[in-house]
Amino acid sequence: MHISLEGKRALVTGGNSGIGAAIAAELAKAGAKVAINYVTDQDTAEKLAAEIRARGRDTITIQADVSHSREVEAMFKQLDERWGGIDILINNAGIDGIHANTWEIDIDDWEKVLNINLGGNFYCARQALRRMVAQNYGVILATSSVHETIAWSGHSAYTTSKAALGMLTKTMAQEAAPYNVRVLALAPGAIKTSINKDVWDNPKGYKDLLEKIPLNRIGDPEEVARMAVVLVSDTASYVTGRTIYVDGGMTDYPDFAHGG
Ligand code: BGC
Repeated sequence: MHISLEGKRALVTGGNSGIGAAIAAELAKAGAKVAINYVTDQDTAEKLAAEIRARGRDTITIQADVSHSREVEAMFKQLDERWGGIDILINNAGIDGIHANTWEIDIDDWEKVLNINLGGNFYCARQALRRMVAQNYGVILATSSVHETIAWSGHSAYTTSKAALGMLTKTMAQEAAPYNVRVLALAPGAIKTSINKDVWDNPKGYKDLLEKIPLNRIGDPEEVARMAVVLVSDTASYVTGRTIYVDGGMTDYPDFAHGG
């Protein structure tokens, strides 16, 4: 089976680091034109863009904070000017937020996570759907998390944002289906990126993490990116309104391998 995204116009939010960067690179390898959105650290965005250009693919970098609807609007206008629209949105930008029990969280910290993870997804999807519905084609893929379903103490803003993302995905998929637009989410488990470096980088955290993963290893960003390419390609033309887990079995409740 050959997967080609030749000529497709893609935007990856938070595309300059971690899972987003891996997805941007993989989309370009499959033939897509890729816009790399970033909010800070322009250098990493430009470096990735240079690598993509070196492979003969068209790419741009766009600075925008997805938690601000006006910046999102300007980003999509830039895409219109450059490529006349969009076919694939990877709604990826997100943060874990600070670690604190719910009764200790500052309102500002709560709002920051919700505004980026959920608000940012909504703002970008809203702009993308306007264009995709009008052209009767498109795919939106959000980066959710295993914490769409697994509770995680100290991260209630994060878990809430990801659970909401699952429902936003299903609802938008239902709305957009008559217009040949698919809406999906991808839920990674523990993937080796800077977001969770403090956990996998210390022996105790690493051991604890492995106990939560039946495949007994942390995933690579490329393993998520490959699934993203499949899902946004026509290979997955009959898949919509679902969250697909790429988690080494984390949501398979490994504690039930014994006892129960
Ligand atoms: C979080 C990571 C965490 C993983 C597994 C992800 O959604 O961003 O920090 O390691 O879930 O718990």
